[in-house]
Amino acid sequence: MKNILTVALSVVFLASATSSSSADPAAGKTVFGAKGCADCHYTDGPAKEKTIDDQLAKKGPELWYAGSKFQKAWLAKWLTDPKPIRPQKFNSLTEENPADHPKLAGADAGSVTDYLMSLTSADVASGKVKPKNNPKGRQIFTKKMPCSGCHQYTGRKKNIVGGRSGPSLVEAGVRLNPDWILAYLQKPKVFKPVKMMPVFVGLLSDKDMTNVARYVANFKPKKK
Ligand code: HEC
Ligand code: HEC
Repeated sequence: MKNILTVALSVVFLASATSSSSADPAAGKTVFGAKGCADCHYTDGPAKEKTIDDQLAKKGPELWYAGSKFQKAWLAKWLTDPKPIRPQKFNSLTEENPADHPKLAGADAGSVTDYLMSLTSADVASGKVKPKNNPKGRQIFTKKMPCSGCHQYTGRKKNIVGGRSGPSLVEAGVRLNPDWILAYLQKPKVFKPVKMMPVFVGLLSDKDMTNVARYVANFKPKKK
């Protein structure tokens, strides 16, 4: 009886493992530790429970909400070929990004992607932000607010324009979850206790934040 049960259980287990395209967050967590990723990245949150000193003690961005922030396909690819996101070194306004992020290969990249995508935040509502090149969002981003003074994006002539002190938002619509962009603007205390990016709560209404989030989420590769 016990054997039959074990066999039955393992069949169920195998079936579920293959049907979810071999998602393996537990293996990814092990790889994350073994490759030294945890030396530079927090995977426990939320940010408001850490002091500024705790934040600055890590050399890389927090990843405890990675599954709410990133698009899975982008993350899987970036881990194997980590091109710079921030023009400047993380938390620095003077040094260039050294472009030396560790790489993962093959199965490790897949399992770490599954692990990071399993780290989500309850502060990100889903299905609120539909990417759109809307004039209101564009006006906020390029004129009403200084967003473009700190963030690069693709200009109308397909050239890269904008400032360099914040992360590049070129093709942010491929990298970021649109709903996270809104949550990030609305809940700065949860997502960014180190105030390198200004707080727009009180300056922008929820409607304006939604419009600018929709605009940023529409930054996709231009059709040739
Ligand atoms: C020596 C410190 C260091 C180590 C080790 C490290 N990272 Fe990073 N990580 C960084 C920095 C700095 C950035 C910002 C890079 C940029 O903006 O281009 C970053 C960015 C990231 C991002 C994007 C985060 C964001 O919000 O933009 C992910 C995902 C990531 N790292 C995963 C990993 C994984 C997985 C490993 C282990 C294989 C790892 N990191 C190892 C320092 C590190
Ligand atoms: C004074 C410079 C500055 C201005 C102005 C600014 N930002 Fe930022 N922004 C930053 C910095 C710095 C970060 C992130 C810090 C980090 O994680 O390295 C950031 C992060 C972001 C992110 C997350 C990007 C990522 O990959 O983690 C988004 C989205 C964003 N800003 C959008 C906006 C929008 C929309 C506006 C205007 C309403 C704006 N920013 C105005 C500096 C700025």
